[in-house]
Amino acid sequence: MLDFNVGIIGTGKYIPDKIISNHTLETMVDTTDEWITRRTGIKERHLLEEDVPSYTMGAIAAKQAISDAGITPEDVDLIIATTEAPDYLSPSMACLIQGEINAKNAAAFDVNAACTGFVYAMTIAQQFIQTGYYKHILIVSNEALSRIVDWKNRSTCILFGDAAGAIVLGKVDKEYGIKESYIASFGDLGHSITIPCCFVSEDEKKKRREGMEHTIWQDGSEVFAFAVRAMTDATNLVLEKAGISINDVDMVVPHQANLRIINGAAKRLGLNDEQICVILQDTGNISSASIPVALDISAKNGKLKKGDILVFVAFGGGLTCGSLCLSWGK
Ligand code: UT7
Repeated sequence: MLDFNVGIIGTGKYIPDKIISNHTLETMVDTTDEWITRRTGIKERHLLEEDVPSYTMGAIAAKQAISDAGITPEDVDLIIATTEAPDYLSPSMACLIQGEINAKNAAAFDVNAACTGFVYAMTIAQQFIQTGYYKHILIVSNEALSRIVDWKNRSTCILFGDAAGAIVLGKVDKEYGIKESYIASFGDLGHSITIPCCFVSEDEKKKRREGMEHTIWQDGSEVFAFAVRAMTDATNLVLEKAGISINDVDMVVPHQANLRIINGAAKRLGLNDEQICVILQDTGNISSASIPVALDISAKNGKLKKGDILVFVAFGGGLTCGSLCLSWGK
């Protein structure tokens, strides 16, 4: 038996200053603030300036998380980054962030599990620390989704925003830290959210305007149905693995895609409003950055107490889903 557990020892985030409100979108596409609010719960989203590389957001979030953990960049053994809109396919987002923060002793790589990326990255990182291979792992979820959106397509451009969230994982006392996690993929449903890269099929071209071949496309209702089911099942599964009842959960931090998806899953799980962390009204869907950004806001606002039981749960492209249960140890 190990005499320690793996837990979050630092958090950070970066949200760009520039805001696009629903009212601004009314002037860009055929939509209304009323429609967006009623169907999604989103009121505004933040956008990174066009001439700034996306990894700079992640670097700021990473520096905060490292300082919050009370370590230095040289103490980081591994950087795992998650993103749906990388600045380059190579170098990876993780390597770009490593260079920017001068974490010269770290290995670095990206994980592609779309909006579920953060939960996947935590699950991977946990193994490295548990086995004693590494001591400190930085996870950065860095998403500039404004760059893969067709700003003339009202069914997608109203949903997404830009932000980065980061955590440092390290050793914590045995009673705190990660209890259980669950990750799953459904490649047979991959067609329902796509962002073509080096090959664009005729099918994918037909779904988009000419010149917009590399933008995000999704079958909204198919993803919606999957999401409510996946969030509910993944939460139940991880709690069952951990031997914890839903009534003992202090806070669920879900992927922030649509308030109706969150409320649908919450109702099936029997959660009350106080048990759910929601930030999407101010950020829109920021993909894998949703959970670490929401976590950092809750932690810095003093909403988390040592020993609180938290559940992270996400779904996204792939399709993928995942959940993680932990005892807050900071
Ligand atoms: O993290 C990525 C994972 N993706 C998701 O989580 C997406 C999950 N899906 C959703 O969140 C919802 O399906 C959407 C928000 C994307 C769409 O909401 P919906 O209630 O499923 O609407 P719908 O697609 O069924 O469209 C209803 C109507 C349509 O008009 P008709 O055909 O009924 O005349 C759309 O053309 O609403 C129309 N519509 C809009 N109207 C005003 C679609 N987008 C808009 C818009 N403003 N922005």
